[in-house]
Amino acid sequence: MSLSLRFLSAKLFLCLCLTLFQHHVTFSASNPTGLTLRAVLDDSPNSPLYLIENMTIAERIERFIQVTNAKDNYLNLNARVGPDNSNSLSRVVMARDGLFYSVWLLIGSQGQEVKLLMDTGGGLTWTQCQPCLNCFPQNLPIYDSRASTTYSTLSCDHPLCQVEGSLYTCVDDLCIFVHNYHGGLYTTGVASLETFYFPMDPSTALTFNNLVFGCSRDSRNVVFQDTELSGIFGMNMMPDSLMSQLSSFTNFRFSYCLVPFPDLIPHTLVLRFGDDIPLLPPERVKTTMFVHAPYLYNYYVNLVTISFLNDRLGFPPSQFQLREDGLGGCFVDSGYLLTAIEDNYVGGVNAYDVLMDLFTAYYESNNLRRTTDPSGLDMCFERPNDFNNFANLTFHFDGEADYFVPPQHLHIFQQDHFCVAITRGRYATVLGAWQQQINVCFMM
Ligand SMILES: *[C@@H]1O[C@H](CO)[C@@H](O)[C@H](O)[C@H]1NC(C)=O
Ligand SMILES: *[C@@H]1O[C@H](CO)[C@@H](O)[C@H](O)[C@H]1NC(C)=O
Repeated sequence: MSLSLRFLSAKLFLCLCLTLFQHHVTFSASNPTGLTLRAVLDDSPNSPLYLIENMTIAERIERFIQVTNAKDNYLNLNARVGPDNSNSLSRVVMARDGLFYSVWLLIGSQGQEVKLLMDTGGGLTWTQCQPCLNCFPQNLPIYDSRASTTYSTLSCDHPLCQVEGSLYTCVDDLCIFVHNYHGGLYTTGVASLETFYFPMDPSTALTFNNLVFGCSRDSRNVVFQDTELSGIFGMNMMPDSLMSQLSSFTNFRFSYCLVPFPDLIPHTLVLRFGDDIPLLPPERVKTTMFVHAPYLYNYYVNLVTISFLNDRLGFPPSQFQLREDGLGGCFVDSGYLLTAIEDNYVGGVNAYDVLMDLFTAYYESNNLRRTTDPSGLDMCFERPNDFNNFANLTFHFDGEADYFVPPQHLHIFQQDHFCVAITRGRYATVLGAWQQQINVCFMM
């Protein structure tokens, strides 16, 4: 695979694009290489996941931190496995109660409706398929490959099925995939080809023939069972992800915007590909290059250093670099809720500790008292009514791409106290969704 070459020119744009939600650019013939998908945020009142409304903020955050920690554990496993068995583990899905980001599409000659969890860290896209051996309950009819004339199984000769030690094996001339996600989610089935239709508006759909996907016949420990979701929409850079398969169309570009988390008003999220990503005036866009990492398919970027308030911290250049063993580095992940700063000593410096010491010194100098929070976040302080001098932070990415995190996205505010919304990154630094909220769209 020549993945490394293709990605050398990939870029990450951080842009301030406040108005993107209002302007949904639909696909048209004059824009033949773009694709806009409507990603649905499943916390609408119609969603079984709407329970979040009744959770206190503390409860919600507690859940999120559990998810973040689960993902962190996963990173550990992922970083340690080499090329031989990297396939046997995939990542934890975005299991945020009431905040599953999903993508809606139609597949097969009958146009069967499918809703999949959008996972920027996922590879193979899969959905449950009839006839099932062991399917989990889903609220949309299960896709039935027998009803579709455009369905076919992936040949064992196909390059994806040939990759040694991959998640595919050839059994009785069928290319079988087995996906084990950390956290227990397991799914297996037949690697297949099918026509996918992405609805653009009520009368138009973009059609792609022969996309490789997983026809799952047996799934266990699925966190989103009893919802409309029936599988996962993989958007990372693995050769079998939809991002890679649609690369001639999308040029490996996609963008997404996250809605602010505490805002429970249902939004339509838009996931855009290729030329459908609106061009923005250069002064509103900041660009940094992706870092390519063999066998790691996340969106790594080069974090140079961090500023606390107005002070640029003197981290050594290697502090946030990806290391030979696959640990370290910094990536952007919508499936990771809170930003994590790596908590290992790199050249004698622990970035997490350095940063937390600064927060402590700052708030203590403002006479605030440390307190605890059920979420388990480390750095919480009592909040006097008249206190408003909250800290801010800037991530400095390579190429002068400065990413300012204002106080409201750097902290989680409770009734009488607040916490710094940063967790320990046991194996890497991750820019999570809490710090990617409103006003920011990510364009890959
Ligand atoms: C939220 O709580 C109220 C009052 O307890 C209840 O009537 C309502 O059904 C709950 N909503 C959900 C989605 O559980
Ligand atoms: C960050 O906080 C410092 C100290 O309060 C302030 O001087 C600075 O203007 C803030 N930065 C921005 C970009 O608002």
